[in-house]
Amino acid sequence: MAKQKLEDLDWTNLGFAYRDLPYSYNEEFKDGKWQNGGLTTDSTLTFNEAAEDLHYGQEVFEGMKAYRTKDGRIQLFRPDMNAKRFTNSAKRLVMEPYPEDKFVEAVKEVVKANADFVPPYGSGGSLYIRPFMVGTEPLVGVSPSSTYTFHIYATPVGAYIKGLHPMPYMVSKYDRAAYAGTGQAKTAGNYAGSLLAAKEAKDNGFAGELYLDPRQHKYVDEFGGANFYAIGKDGKFYTPKSHSILPSITKKSILQIAKDLGLDPSETNIDVNDLDEYTEAGAMGTAAVISPVGSLTNNGKKHVFYSETEPGPITQKLYDTLFGIQSGDVEDKYGWVVPV
Ligand code: PLP
Ligand code: COI
Repeated sequence: MAKQKLEDLDWTNLGFAYRDLPYSYNEEFKDGKWQNGGLTTDSTLTFNEAAEDLHYGQEVFEGMKAYRTKDGRIQLFRPDMNAKRFTNSAKRLVMEPYPEDKFVEAVKEVVKANADFVPPYGSGGSLYIRPFMVGTEPLVGVSPSSTYTFHIYATPVGAYIKGLHPMPYMVSKYDRAAYAGTGQAKTAGNYAGSLLAAKEAKDNGFAGELYLDPRQHKYVDEFGGANFYAIGKDGKFYTPKSHSILPSITKKSILQIAKDLGLDPSETNIDVNDLDEYTEAGAMGTAAVISPVGSLTNNGKKHVFYSETEPGPITQKLYDTLFGIQSGDVEDKYGWVVPV
């Protein structure tokens, strides 16, 4: 694949696509320790045909963004939280954790090296950063690898879901993760398992799928790539408390922002049969930012939240505050922003 040329990029029309940038980061774990890694111009990885990851899915990843501020600086949003979750995911998959301070430094190195590719302020774009780690040992039996590759690539992206346009979603009949499964880990298998559910949603005209709790299929869990929230008729902010969802860094931040906005936020059970109790709903995540849910269809029954065409006022406020902090326009009261 050819390297992306800077002059070929249309900053206002990036989409959510992979582009091969000049620099990535690579480091190997072997002989019981992480070797000294660093920047590389090689965006191709080579594995033995029996590599653990290729057959048994021993992989974990992260997703984060670098934002351009009005005065041209570049900043990350809570990268320490991604480093921590990467460790937790690695432990769940019995992988060698990558040192958290080195994780943040490596992310900064990749952003600095590709700084020209961080979209300009006001374009709506950002530099998406994808750190990941795979088990590389050739193994026929199912057991943890003793060698790993840690790698980071970056790619300029527009919004995953464009603008604050409400989208229609459907409740999936499939589960994303088992109750005591790998739902809290950011690992490839959870996403491979979601492909059919997402295909069924898209084939039926929906933007995506929403999963219910895997034990009772009664309470809302999350989307394939984002957490769920809803605003109650009482004006309060609700988001699912569940054993099988990814602990979203955006969600954690929105819980604080919602508290500051007087929305009395809580993590609780959201019964899929009680959607009438909610006036707004949305998706939250790094890629999704805040994306309003226009409607949710469950077993053929469609529930419209605020509107199918306009974002609700609380959704708009949450988005403005979160994206404002991320891009430097709103005061960062909590020290979430890290300069690159
Ligand atoms: N849930 C899933 C399944 C995800 O893939 C993501 C994306 O990372 C999220 C939630 C949101 O997490 P975060 O806000 O940390 O990006
Ligand atoms: C992210 O938001 O960073 C994710 O990993 C979600 C993915 C489906 C793009």
